[in-house]
Amino acid sequence: MQTVKVRCIENQATGINTFEFVDPAGKPLPPFTAGAHIDVHLPGGFIRQYSLCNSPQERDRYVVGVLNVVDGRGGSRSLHSNVKAGDLLQISEPRNHFPVVDQAQRHLLIGGGIGVTPMMAMLEHFEASGAQYILYYCGETPERTAFKERLSSLLGKHVVIHYDGGDPARRLDIRELLMHYEPGTHLYCCGPGGLMAGVKAAAEHWPAGTVHFEHFAAPVLPPSASTVSEGEFRITLARSGQTLDVPNSKSIAQVLREAGLPCETSCEAGICGTCKTRFIDGEVDHRDFILSDDEKQEHLLICCSRSKSSTLVLDL
Ligand code: FES
Repeated sequence: MQTVKVRCIENQATGINTFEFVDPAGKPLPPFTAGAHIDVHLPGGFIRQYSLCNSPQERDRYVVGVLNVVDGRGGSRSLHSNVKAGDLLQISEPRNHFPVVDQAQRHLLIGGGIGVTPMMAMLEHFEASGAQYILYYCGETPERTAFKERLSSLLGKHVVIHYDGGDPARRLDIRELLMHYEPGTHLYCCGPGGLMAGVKAAAEHWPAGTVHFEHFAAPVLPPSASTVSEGEFRITLARSGQTLDVPNSKSIAQVLREAGLPCETSCEAGICGTCKTRFIDGEVDHRDFILSDDEKQEHLLICCSRSKSSTLVLDL
């Protein structure tokens, strides 16, 4: 956790502001990589994850772009209404579950609305490294589309902005765009659930490991794939030997907390990675939306994942 000062707030588009955070004493901030996000602790007790949208080469500031979701859960409203330049806020260190694959020969980015924010940092990274990339940025209207000024010099060559005017019939033809897989290409997508589901379906034939998503909210799954907790199991904490029962109504994180054990969580929905924990034995029922297959061999997110085996041994 670290304290930052809000150096400035700039309006980027209707309902979208960027917030620039700096160290209050002017020290360098912890480094980050393109695609990373931070937790921001907001007035009202909200903790929200926001992607960093400035260049990862910059060490003196973090910039986040935030849409004021007026009918949302209150986090972005609190940031837009209650935070002003000069305020101090608590933030986490940057974490990255949406990293760029630098070995790729080319990068295809699809961002919808405010989902473009992690891609702004990627684009700075690609510009600095000379990587081959193109960003398709789907927006409703120019008035509601952020970062137009930064993107203007890249239009045509590296950036395509597609306005649909809010009309589903005028949406970007994702099927057409993703139909032919060009070897060496990696695809990155962040945006509204409908766009991400469309990209997932249209890229089904792309090789495993080449398609990457960043979720702002847990996706709505069909009932057949429900993540509703079910089944009781036991956890053993390897370092102390303590065992605890996890009933079907509670998450591992809740059980740990109720036992008075330290347990840091943020989104409680399997999308931020704050609660990532190593396990030593047992078969995990992974319910998260961010861990890679490799990470799942040794880690789970204890806010949402459960156990297929009767006991799960955690490295705690
Ligand atoms: S608290 Fe966010 S993934 Fe578990």
